Amino acid sequence: MRAKKAQSPHSDAKLRLIACYLESYFPAILVNHAQDRQRITLVDGFCGGGRFTDDGSIISGTPFLFLEAVAKAERIANAGRNKPLTIDAEYHFVDSKRDHVEFLRAELIKAGYLDQLDRSIFLYNADFETVFPDICRRIEGRTKRGVGRSIFLLDQKGYSDVAFETVRKILRFSAAECTLTFAVGWLIDYLTDKPQTLKRVSPIVISEEQLREFLRFKDEQGGRYVI
Ligand SMILES: C[S@@+](CC[C@H](N)C(=O)[O-])C[C@H]1O[C@@H](n2cnc3c(N)ncnc32)[C@H](O)[C@@H]1O
Repeated sequence: MRAKKAQSPHSDAKLRLIACYLESYFPAILVNHAQDRQRITLVDGFCGGGRFTDDGSIISGTPFLFLEAVAKAERIANAGRNKPLTIDAEYHFVDSKRDHVEFLRAELIKAGYLDQLDRSIFLYNADFETVFPDICRRIEGRTKRGVGRSIFLLDQKGYSDVAFETVRKILRFSAAECTLTFAVGWLIDYLTDKPQTLKRVSPIVISEEQLREFLRFKDEQGGRYVI
């Protein structure tokens, strides 16, 4: 797979938001100057190939945002500390498309991460929901009392690849954060009261009654906003 031309203003904004979020996250948790190690697990459940092109320039995708944010946070946290701090991060990058995963693997190697592959960086060619239980076990195993300091980014393309039950399970870890992208415009555009729609929206806990209510709103002024 070659670096894809896939940047729209929308995905630019998304990448900037994620980068800003990570930049604020680490200073907020690394406040104890006596601490010398911070364990964390970063999960990118819909990771893509890691690099895109935009008008000839190469843009880093979310796996690289994670890796670079941790390295930067460690550098910043260590400036002015007597006791050095290590961020002991483990990364799980998942994508259902084989060529995306292979492209990402090649980009990681090119960027100097070969030594970390299969040690602290794990790649999965799978549906996120399939490997989610294994990743949870891994998080439980590596943090004290299963606290599970972790960040999940679930950047699905539409709105139905992540069951809300999965988000609930993530949030049962007391120190987990989860970002889920949700294409609400698509949900509204494809809304019908056919059984296949009902089946499609059941993982995101929309009942038949709610669906009919959404359909009533859909064409009213301001209805899309309400939904
Ligand atoms: C919006 S892209 C992710 C882009 C990436 N987060 C970034 O900004 O660099 C969504 C990715 O999810 C993958 N995908 C689609 N369904 C999936 C599933 N059920 N589980 C895991 N990956 C999936 C697609 O192959 C695609 O690469």
